[in-house]
Amino acid sequence: MFALKRFVVALLTLGIWVHPTLERTLEPSPECYSFVESRSSHLLYTGNSSVGNVPILEYKVTELTSFDSEFELRTLDPEGVIFFGDIGGQQNYFLLAVIRGNLSVQTSRGDGQVLVTSGSKISDGEWKKIAVMKHEGTVAVRVGSETAVTVQQSAESQRAEIGNGVLRISIGDLLPDSGVTLGLNPPLDGCMRSWDWVRQDSSILERTLQDSKVQRCWEHIAPGSYFTGVGSVGFSSLVLLGNSSAEPDGADWTLSVELALRTVSARGFLFILVDTQNDYILSLKLNHPSQELMLRLRGTLFWSRSYPQTLCSGESQFLQLQVRPGQLVIGMGVTKATMRLTDGDYELLKRVLSQPGSRVYLGGGPEGLSSFHGCLQAKIQGVNVDLDLAEVKHGDVRSHSCPAALDIRDGK
Ligand SMILES: *[C@@H]1O[C@H](CO)[C@@H](O)[C@H](O)[C@H]1NC(C)=O
Ligand SMILES: *[C@@H]1O[C@H](CO)[C@@H](O)[C@H](O)[C@H]1NC(C)=O
Ligand SMILES: *[C@@H]1O[C@H](CO)[C@@H](O)[C@H](O)[C@H]1NC(C)=O
Repeated sequence: MFALKRFVVALLTLGIWVHPTLERTLEPSPECYSFVESRSSHLLYTGNSSVGNVPILEYKVTELTSFDSEFELRTLDPEGVIFFGDIGGQQNYFLLAVIRGNLSVQTSRGDGQVLVTSGSKISDGEWKKIAVMKHEGTVAVRVGSETAVTVQQSAESQRAEIGNGVLRISIGDLLPDSGVTLGLNPPLDGCMRSWDWVRQDSSILERTLQDSKVQRCWEHIAPGSYFTGVGSVGFSSLVLLGNSSAEPDGADWTLSVELALRTVSARGFLFILVDTQNDYILSLKLNHPSQELMLRLRGTLFWSRSYPQTLCSGESQFLQLQVRPGQLVIGMGVTKATMRLTDGDYELLKRVLSQPGSRVYLGGGPEGLSSFHGCLQAKIQGVNVDLDLAEVKHGDVRSHSCPAALDIRDGK
């Protein structure tokens, strides 16, 4: 047993996915709110999970009778790659992506110039039928029955289609050797179904879904970020504060953290600020087995309170944390507690947050243990935290979706 535990800890340190039931046998997870996950073996997750990317499809151009493809897509993620295709390298590629919530097509014109064309809104969480059709030197992308984008094919691209190269299609990411640089963050927290890739066999995708449960999507989704109880997400604190109006220099600087959550297991770190030495400066945790919400400052218990009665009833919880000159305020639903904060502690928090190398973790510690299991939406300085800005992220954390059974908007 001890050896097994050490083995699993070693796997976790390496960032390798451990099956949740294996993890549960080692450290019993306090059952809190059970729900049916209902992941479907017909719905392919387009992002990069802990088992890696979606496999790359490859077809000999001489064997193709069509370049048309279609599929249905559902996403709440405002940015990422839907698919990337090329024949013979970076002079001839086609990228379908989501940028700021809208469809976007990027192609090479053959002379090194890149053409970017944007289309209609995609990221609304509804299934969209997308078709990519080639017709006499143009490529049209249809969403439902509307043509969203039309681009001219380059002469290079037209030549390649009658050559003897290989068409490669990668879903949810660039090809590793594509040589194309994009101004976007590739992983798309999205789901695909009913695909037909260039009218050819793509059973490798079905096999992926059979073999790997983490590559499957939920039947229904809701906004938020889903944490599996293994792993966490870490941000540079500067990136999180970067776009906020409250720069940490003014004398009346405040830090505001708001969390909306629905938990599956009654434990785990929600928020941690660590300094450059990885020391915990401020942390908020659902502490098991004492069943208390605990706030620690510089490693010392600063405040604690029994879990809200509704924590395990499946209702959404709202927590607030505010650091102000001389005060630390914590709110749980409508109740608020105000504590005195020394000038030294206030200055320390300000200093650590504005130091390059400091990090904010959500859903677990830097080493990925004591992780949260459930749906979480964090707001820092009033801005929804985008998990795609993370420096480190466990592969199975879903950045922009939760199973619908854990919809955090329910309590509002
Ligand atoms: C995708 O996931 C695999 C396995 O977790 C990892 O090795 C790889 O670096 C990831 N790729 C990207 C682009 O994040
Ligand atoms: C995004 O899509 C919406 C709705 O389809 C449209 O009104 C808007 O102009 C698009 N934005 C861009 C940048 O194309
Ligand atoms: C800051 O805002 C700009 C413009 O809205 C955006 O492009 C950029 O990604 C943001 N940076 C961070 C760190 O949020």
